[in-house]
Amino acid sequence: MNIQWNAQGYTQNFSFVHEYGRGLIDLLEGGGLSVLDLGCGNGALTQRLAQAGFRAEGLDASPELLEVARQSYPGLAFRQGDAVDFQTAEPFDAVFSNAVLHWIDMDKQDGMLRCVNQALKPGGQFVFEMGGHGNNALIHGALERAFTRRGLSYRMPFYFPTVGQYAARLEAAGFRVASAALFDRPTPLNGPEGLYDWLRMFIKSPFAGADPAAREEILREAVGQLRGPLLQEGVWYCDYVRLRCKAIKETEINHIERK
Ligand code: BEZ
Repeated sequence: MNIQWNAQGYTQNFSFVHEYGRGLIDLLEGGGLSVLDLGCGNGALTQRLAQAGFRAEGLDASPELLEVARQSYPGLAFRQGDAVDFQTAEPFDAVFSNAVLHWIDMDKQDGMLRCVNQALKPGGQFVFEMGGHGNNALIHGALERAFTRRGLSYRMPFYFPTVGQYAARLEAAGFRVASAALFDRPTPLNGPEGLYDWLRMFIKSPFAGADPAAREEILREAVGQLRGPLLQEGVWYCDYVRLRCKAIKETEINHIERK
């Protein structure tokens, strides 16, 4: 999860990530709630939460992104912490997270959900969106083929669960799933090199230790393969699939009733 972010490039070229996250805020119910923005990144959505009347605070592992967040929104509180191992001084009314949870390895998901549960008051809301089953399937398929052609193995570095897989994790961690949906969101990318720029920004770990020339060759080959499905009328698209959920922290009473 802890990758070195190019904070400026992310903020300049990929602001659509938090623009789409704005609709997610509407799932939060109640006025003036205390909300923890888990994986707040550059703080753009923490600021949106504050503008919507919530008492919002951001948590992120990346010092580079936190610096941008603090400079951009000096009136808000941001603190450094790892989503899979954090505690809060006081419990929150809600935890919010956009486009973050798929960065967490599958074997760390349950620990992260336990931290979220502990950070909430009983009845507290966990509202999030992440990459879901089938997310970027065309992109990862093209990369895998380019790796395989060179005798290399490709490890897809994200966790994109189905509704059923994630609902089971949420329930095991002490949540009631209030709503969960998996849906396509083909998303236009910026500029004539949109897909290439996206790959360079987000697909890092499969190339760890690789020769830069070999990496460039693989990226260019994958982009070439994806022209057919992902370049439409001169605009590159990303084949996003979103998993959007609202889950409620169970109270003790609910636990007892279900046994
Ligand atoms: C996503 O938001 O689905 C995503 C973004 C970057 C890399 C992988 C997935």
